[in-house]
Amino acid sequence: MSQNDAAPGQQLWTGRFTEATDAFVERFSASVQFDARLALQDIQGSEAHARMLAERGVLTEAERDAILQGLAEIRQEVIEERFPWSPQLEDVHMNIEHRLTQRIGEAGKKLHTGRSRNDQIATDVRLFLREAIDTIRAELARFQHGLVELAEREADTIMPGFTHLQVAQPVTFGHHMLAWYEMLERDRDRLADCRRRLNQCPLGAAALAGTSFPIDREATARELGFDAPTRNSLDSVSDRDFAIEFCADASLILVHLSRMAEELVLWTSQQFGFVELPDRFCTGSSIMPQKKTPDVAELVRGKAARAQGSLVQLLTLMKGQPLAYNRDNQEDKEPLFDAVDTARDALTAFADMVPALSVNRERCREAARAGFATATDLADYLVRQGLAFRDAHEVVGRAVRYATEADRDLAELSLEELRQFSAAIGDDVFAVLTLDGSVAARSHIGGTAPEQVRAQARAARERLA
Ligand code: ARG
Repeated sequence: MSQNDAAPGQQLWTGRFTEATDAFVERFSASVQFDARLALQDIQGSEAHARMLAERGVLTEAERDAILQGLAEIRQEVIEERFPWSPQLEDVHMNIEHRLTQRIGEAGKKLHTGRSRNDQIATDVRLFLREAIDTIRAELARFQHGLVELAEREADTIMPGFTHLQVAQPVTFGHHMLAWYEMLERDRDRLADCRRRLNQCPLGAAALAGTSFPIDREATARELGFDAPTRNSLDSVSDRDFAIEFCADASLILVHLSRMAEELVLWTSQQFGFVELPDRFCTGSSIMPQKKTPDVAELVRGKAARAQGSLVQLLTLMKGQPLAYNRDNQEDKEPLFDAVDTARDALTAFADMVPALSVNRERCREAARAGFATATDLADYLVRQGLAFRDAHEVVGRAVRYATEADRDLAELSLEELRQFSAAIGDDVFAVLTLDGSVAARSHIGGTAPEQVRAQARAARERLA
């Protein structure tokens, strides 16, 4: 096959073995089919390691230069997808090291001085995840920007607010969009926290106990953009907390997106009809010609299951593992990669789609009007007239029963009709029974009034800047 193939018995660790690896075991233990994704991080780590070894006199400058030259060429091969990956060489590390020696000879064999694949893989995964977090945080911010714009556009749009999925009180559509924004703001913050904790460099922990060579861990940590070297070599090679934390954060992101997805599915249904999604984000049915389905939203809702699966897989992988490195840890990559891809793609889908939705303002208002959404406002009015809230609650309950039987909204009852329930009701009551009066009255921090929505949107923009 490719030129990087190792003949049987040519793996990089065969010295103490008397027979070649069983062909099945070779396949069973290979990880290169998925960890090749870490090639660029692996090269980056090797470059830092080689420079540090030369600085400390463990490698000559000529050896270092040959290694750096060889790694630069390998990087090009990887980027241009010309690198001859070989499953016989097990993983990304040994593929690259073997290739390096093929290209530059003796010096290539010295690169692994003072390190192990155990600290190497821990470093690679941290570098990979750091980049992934930066990408995902940028997508979160892009989606948040879109929500802020939508909130400003629909700051005055009245819709029903729900509890128990029953019409509760009128809210503004912009207010609802800013609720979504808040979920994502916590997600962005959580990822920043995850990044801060993972940004320590395990390189130098070697297999588990450190190395007898005079390495400079501060130097490699600095060159790789880490805040500091890790403090304990045993912990360094075995710790996968950062991967678990990321999967927890990704799961929560997907839980949030799935909740938004569910609302979009409801809102685009004929029964609600609150919003319409652009055709380019929807699909049709192969049998029912009239259908336009919100598949992207449904898929995002479904993908939440994948992220949660990754989290549970990693928690279970680590449970009960003794120190230090165990080969179990090779199983961390697929769920982690999947969580990264799932979170990123779901965010991209929503960042593109949600701000492009159009709101059916009439339908939204109609739905709020139909559900006695201003009943609480009537109760609050009676409290201002001197009734105790519990008594006011009772009065309004009776008025709602009457209106339900008459098939009319509270605002459609005459003053005389309303006064049957309380003599405290005057003709100024109609101002509070309107939807616009109801939302405008809730004008405090976090309230649904249009002017509050505009103020919160402004503040959100500043946070994102
Ligand atoms: N492929 C391994 C992993 O993903 C790299 C470390 C292997 N170390 C070992 N001693 N077998 O974790």
